[in-house]
Amino acid sequence: MPTEERDLDYGGALDGFRGILAAVPAAIVITAKDGVILFANQSAHLLFGYADNELDGAPLAWLVPPEARDQHRDLEVRFFDHPVGGAMGRVRDLYGVRKGGERIPIEIHLAPLALARVQLTVASISDLRDRRRLEAAVESASVQEQCRLGAELHDSLGQQLTTIGLLVSSLATKSRLLCPTITDELRRVLSLTREVNDSTRRLARDMTPLGPGGGDLEGALARLATQVQHGGLKGYFGAQGTSESRIPRNVAHQLFRIAQEATSNVIKHAAATAVEIELMVSASHIRLSVTDDGRGLQSLADGSGMGLNTMKHRAGLIGATLSIVRRASGGTQVSCVVPHSPWDHLKDSEE
Ligand SMILES: Nc1ncnc2c1ncn2[C@@H]1O[C@H](COP(=O)(O)OP(=O)(O)OP(=O)(O)O)[C@@H](O)[C@H]1O
Ligand SMILES: [Mg+2]
Repeated sequence: MPTEERDLDYGGALDGFRGILAAVPAAIVITAKDGVILFANQSAHLLFGYADNELDGAPLAWLVPPEARDQHRDLEVRFFDHPVGGAMGRVRDLYGVRKGGERIPIEIHLAPLALARVQLTVASISDLRDRRRLEAAVESASVQEQCRLGAELHDSLGQQLTTIGLLVSSLATKSRLLCPTITDELRRVLSLTREVNDSTRRLARDMTPLGPGGGDLEGALARLATQVQHGGLKGYFGAQGTSESRIPRNVAHQLFRIAQEATSNVIKHAAATAVEIELMVSASHIRLSVTDDGRGLQSLADGSGMGLNTMKHRAGLIGATLSIVRRASGGTQVSCVVPHSPWDHLKDSEE
């Protein structure tokens, strides 16, 4: 729609709202069908780092990450054709882009607005940075606690069970001379003690897959690639740039759990012959990918399993983007990209 027509149609009507919307603490952005911002209140300017009125008349694409612009445009057009209000951020991990390029997690509630017979969209945008920081801090504390419990299980219960095993073994040996009738029972106690000890150590290892310091993501992923091998499935691991920078513990933990779920999905669903786990660390981001050559993901619509959602949730906790795609050459690729962002330090609040 040409600018003059737009002004003629609802320019005056919009003026009536400006005063009210300026006083609203939520960030409000009103757009037309052509993807142009007609009005953004002061909170929206602040949220996205623009000076007063700088956004009025700007393309909405300024606020959307480059990789999401096409998808966002489709959603907008669909919304104009079938305007049903609701929250966009609740159903997907949404990010906005600030003026300097910083990506911020947001939630968007859309509502249709008919003004002077023209259909507009009102977006109320919530800043999720504080919520994400809090979630990251809680998650980070629970990861830390889990590592502590794992270490405790290993060092305390595991060692005690080893000592009990040694004592029972020595008793069983002595009993052969002194009281042979109980030797068999002592051997059974010994075997049970060893089983419980093995289970305890396995549990401890599962709770601290990244080692006692929590930092050996590369080693843990390499072990995972070996563990997935069974039947005709081969596992490979490759790393790049990992020696140059340290990956924060919480980021490493979430990436490992994502890799674990992605590889478990390959075993369960893909009927693949090979799975490759790759970890790449560059100056701007960390990228984890799990690629298989199996039957390929059929559809994401089902949603009955938990795995895909928990992977997305984990990615959100560390400000990462998760994508799951069916590869043109066959198979599925799960990739998770963690950008180094200005709130990096909050990804690892325990350190
Ligand atoms: N690598 C893959 N190859 C083929 N299909 C896959 C792959 N990964 C996931 N899928 C499909 O996506 C669906 C959802 O996966 P998701 O991990 O959410 O659930 P699940 O593995 O079935 O159950 P859960 O993870 O809760 O144990 C799967 O049921 C499967 O159909
Ligand atoms: Mg799964």
